Amino acid sequence: MIKITLFLIFISLVSASCKKNGGSDNQDILVITVDSSKVVLLTESDFRPIYHFTPPRNWMNDPNGLVFYKGQYHLFYQYNPNGNVWGPMNWGHATSTDLFNWQDLPIALSPDNLGTIFSGSAVIDINNTSGFKNGNEDPMVAIFTHNGSQQYQSLAYSNDKGVSWTKYLANPVLPNPGVPDFRDPKVFWYPLGQKWIMVLAAGNKVNLYTSSDLKNWQFLSDFGADVGAHGGVWECPDLFELPVGGTSTTKWVLMVSCNGGPNGGTATQYFIGNFDGTTYTTESTNINWIDYGADNYAGATYNNIPSADGRRIMIGWMSNWSYADKVPTTTWRSTMTVPRVMSLVNGTQGLGLKTLPVQEFKNYETSSVDTLIQTAVNSIHLSNNKTIKTGSYEINFTLDFNKSDKFIFTLGDSKEKLIINFDKTSGLVSIDRSGSGQVDFNNQFKQIISCPFIPKTNLITNIQILIDKTSIELFIDNGEKVMTALFFPVYQYNLLKVEGSNSVPQISNFNLVKLNKSMLR
Ligand code: FRU
Repeated sequence: MIKITLFLIFISLVSASCKKNGGSDNQDILVITVDSSKVVLLTESDFRPIYHFTPPRNWMNDPNGLVFYKGQYHLFYQYNPNGNVWGPMNWGHATSTDLFNWQDLPIALSPDNLGTIFSGSAVIDINNTSGFKNGNEDPMVAIFTHNGSQQYQSLAYSNDKGVSWTKYLANPVLPNPGVPDFRDPKVFWYPLGQKWIMVLAAGNKVNLYTSSDLKNWQFLSDFGADVGAHGGVWECPDLFELPVGGTSTTKWVLMVSCNGGPNGGTATQYFIGNFDGTTYTTESTNINWIDYGADNYAGATYNNIPSADGRRIMIGWMSNWSYADKVPTTTWRSTMTVPRVMSLVNGTQGLGLKTLPVQEFKNYETSSVDTLIQTAVNSIHLSNNKTIKTGSYEINFTLDFNKSDKFIFTLGDSKEKLIINFDKTSGLVSIDRSGSGQVDFNNQFKQIISCPFIPKTNLITNIQILIDKTSIELFIDNGEKVMTALFFPVYQYNLLKVEGSNSVPQISNFNLVKLNKSMLR
């Protein structure tokens, strides 16, 4: 294996002026070179991210059973322990105290005579409504789909903080009403009604159910057959209440995953509306996506986050069913997104979800590696002689569209590149991974991914890009728009080039920060 170690950063070119297409505009180019002397050929082990969750080996898809209990975040996930493609599903399991440093635990749930174990959720049954309590711990109860001759919902419980699991003997608790797609229960406690609520994907809609004990479920209502995006069946719903930024009111957000995403393949849409304990209604008139990248699916949010914390934390599966089993890793397949906090804000297009990495991410930032101090074109510079571990880092910056209508960030060099284009004229941010390395495993993978973006003002502060070996997560305008995408370079990228279009400085607060691997697994 070719070991990639620390690289020396230096600035090879501070600013250059040139005529663009014979026009009168000057073009400013900033180039950060990360040890340009090395051309490093990557191997599969270089593809494994350092600050994103990956399974120790073999295939993973959806996050399941996201629940917090006594200081630990639990992450269960759809897992095939016997191969690198989708197969008979189990629930894999890992825990973390900070959402980044994960400890792998034994498989929590394995297939049985009722079927394989599809997606679902987990709750802490603080009042022991289920009667599963046995010992000092509150029971952790998993509500999941058994995928057998039909799809139906079942229970399993743990009385030792999620380490060992027992399936409920009277499974399934919610039989199939005679439909092919009936899965992915998300259950949460509804304090106003002192009852459990389940939201379940049922073909082209979601069904809502209620229970007092997690074992007996009554149908409440359904939602969605005539609204939203409907490419393929709906999957992996989640329903939660959020305060509307800056006000004392709250709204209910319903997330649903499906095919027909904004850039093809699978993606997750959301609705904003109200839930009265029985019925969900939406106020959304447009289709909203939680992420305009190609690689964020089946996202779910944590149950049981302490109220003093109050965050709504989401993790998504960082892949796309169009090519998930073709991506060029073999010993392990798939990665989770960075955990993200969701909130509701009034943006340019009305009320919408804003998503940002959880603040625990900051614990892994080393001191800022390079700060772009930009006072005039000729004084753009980065501080020299700092090292970064290329492949896993974070970039923050502000773009000023007053003087320039586009910014092109190119990561890579003439051999391979990933291009991010912020274009005010077209109102789009795009990621072009067509020349980013291994791309031929799927035609859709080569297509340009774009996100509509109309800036509120010409100054876009708080743009954050997370790079972790094979993924880019782009948080635009303080998380109002998000794009997540995978890429698989053959060569280590060693350049970051930023091109503007005019002679006046346009990028400020530029920060390139490496992430501290030693603290991560
Ligand atoms: C979503 C999904 C779920 C299902 C699971 C099976 O990616 O199709 O609907 O429960 O994956 O692995």
